[in-house]
Amino acid sequence: MKLIALLLCVCEGMLTLKEGYDNLQWNKRLEGRFLTIIPRVSPLDCAEECIVRTGCLSFNYLRSAIFCELNYASDLIEDEVLTDSIGWIYGRKEHWSMLMTNRCLKSSCRQVEKCIGSLNYNGCSLSQCHPSTLNLRPNVELSKSNMSLDFGNTHTVVCAEGSVPSGGDGNVQCLWNASWTTVNLKCRSTCTGTKKNIGNREYCYMREHLSWSLAKEQCSLLGAHLLEIDTWQENYQISQQLQSLQRVFCEGFFGI
Ligand SMILES: *[C@@H]1O[C@H](CO)[C@@H](O)[C@H](O)[C@H]1NC(C)=O
Ligand SMILES: *[C@@H]1O[C@H](CO)[C@@H](O)[C@H](O)[C@H]1NC(C)=O
Repeated sequence: MKLIALLLCVCEGMLTLKEGYDNLQWNKRLEGRFLTIIPRVSPLDCAEECIVRTGCLSFNYLRSAIFCELNYASDLIEDEVLTDSIGWIYGRKEHWSMLMTNRCLKSSCRQVEKCIGSLNYNGCSLSQCHPSTLNLRPNVELSKSNMSLDFGNTHTVVCAEGSVPSGGDGNVQCLWNASWTTVNLKCRSTCTGTKKNIGNREYCYMREHLSWSLAKEQCSLLGAHLLEIDTWQENYQISQQLQSLQRVFCEGFFGI
């Protein structure tokens, strides 16, 4: 009876692994988003290493070098694209959920942790850093890198598209306790809308539906003031200049 039970177990395991293998993408790799890098493991171990780490969303595996890269992003995230890379295999974490061992099923480990344990012990241990614990100012983001987020590694933060640096520096290091050194880079938005010079002022017109307070915040990121059009004369002048733009009053005008 014991033998039969064991066989059933193995068979079920093989059936469920099929989903994982079927969903692998061949000759594809997600670059620059490495959570951690693990050499000398099998593809199955690579998937399992991803499963036990809360911060892992996908993995790349290079068969010729038996080399595993765990990613903190996946191709489901906007703007993340897989590159054509001969010999690599790409897999998303959710397709390997059957590898969730009992000990990890109900784990409440944090993004910087992995779940560890045995039959009678459940726990989490620090694994590496994670972008979610970076305390970044608006418009600042972690840049792509060939380095993992492992302890001791240094990374750079950069200004997001549509913004430029306005002080501070962009180096940040992952410390041994999975926290980051302080980031002080500041980025200022640039005008992505229509620029007009009226009189001796420059106006940036951005067509966005924002609350007054959000518009104000957006403006201060631009280093500008939200223009309060307080005379009919001024409104008339601006609407003359921006004739193609309707409803001058209701939308935000940013004077720079
Ligand atoms: C990562 O390494 C590849 C070569 O292996 C290089 O072409 C690429 O520019 C590097 N990317 C970064 C962000 O350093
Ligand atoms: C991590 O270590 C740094 C430097 O040793 C320390 O300043 C910081 O408070 C520590 N952070 C946590 C969350 O323990």
